[in-house]
Amino acid sequence: MLIDSFGRKHTSLRVSVTDRCNLRCTYCMPAETPDYQDRCEILTFEEIERFVRIAVGLGVDDVRFTGGEPLVRAELHKLVRDVVRIEGLRKVSLTTNGILLSAQLADLFSAGLRSINVSLDALDEESFRTATRRGGLQKVLDGIAAARELGMSVKINAIALRGFTEQQIAAFGDFTRETNIPIRFIEFMPLDTDGKWDPQSVLTGAEILDRFAKIMGPLAPLETNDSPATDYQFRDGRGTIGIIPSVSEPFCGTCNRFRLTADGQLRNCLFGADSADIRALLRSDADDNTIAATIRHAIAEKKAGHGSDDLSFVRPTRPMYSIGG
Ligand code: GTP
Ligand code: 5AD
Ligand code: SF4
Repeated sequence: MLIDSFGRKHTSLRVSVTDRCNLRCTYCMPAETPDYQDRCEILTFEEIERFVRIAVGLGVDDVRFTGGEPLVRAELHKLVRDVVRIEGLRKVSLTTNGILLSAQLADLFSAGLRSINVSLDALDEESFRTATRRGGLQKVLDGIAAARELGMSVKINAIALRGFTEQQIAAFGDFTRETNIPIRFIEFMPLDTDGKWDPQSVLTGAEILDRFAKIMGPLAPLETNDSPATDYQFRDGRGTIGIIPSVSEPFCGTCNRFRLTADGQLRNCLFGADSADIRALLRSDADDNTIAATIRHAIAEKKAGHGSDDLSFVRPTRPMYSIGG
């Protein structure tokens, strides 16, 4: 078991499979295409699978694939298929922007994927373009509908950005009530490439709940779950709204996650720095025990929290697309 010095058990691994993306969300990427990592720097599927196997041996039971946009990595379904087969894994899931979902859904489903979180910040094309600097809303909606038809678990993640998200609240409320797909609002974190984040730019979870209450009636909290979101329901039980208050009420105290970047760096926190060069180990003659010991050491060194509310807070040098969402 991977337990850090604060007693937190680490059972959840997030694996970024690429830093490339087919959108340019303002809160994540720059407007112009950045210098992506070279192909040789990115871990192969075999390297990722070996790492996941070692992590599962240390108690990890939940793996989520992220990016950049994970579906721009060719044949991702093949990696999913091999990882799903690893004994001891309870859950394998994917966080995607949904643009390529329809096209790849059948392969992903056959590979054993049953759970998808789709990042979607607006439900009208114009606002979608403002948020992503690209189009394609209908493709995302089609992908979501197709995943639901296959019976997959689908959740939507929407950024909570002051000056933007306020106008999306009513449409998201209608959407979750009509489809019963949960919508989770994630407070904007200081991980954008453009450095535009400041505390004022975060639309807080409390403000979002307040706005829902004003237009659609009050929301009541649901039982807690193992996700960082607190879920709420409307009085009549239709629709679910989740809040991920990463900035106003960080969930660091109960954090159970660590991550592997596409270029094979282990990070014990979304914030902070790379904590171990796994790629170098995977590409040397290091055996599984050496890699396991490196993972243990990186978790043991984990800090209490991201401290973005401290005056001494320093932004991570890597933006979100390059760490993995
Ligand atoms: P489930 O609850 O199991 O569906 O997964 P999840 O909510 O962890 O996954 P998802 O990828 O949907 O994450 C939701 C959002 O939470 C991400 O888009 C990030 O913005 C944020 N997030 C993910 N990991 C971390 C983390 O380690 N720390 C913080 N502060 N935020 C995170
Ligand atoms: N703050 C909060 N969430 C972010 N994401 C990307 N950048 C940020 C940020 N600066 C989220 C996306 C997506 C996931 C991959 O990460 O909205 O849901
Ligand atoms: Fe791409 Fe996700 Fe970043 Fe948007 S948030 S630019 S979809 S990696």
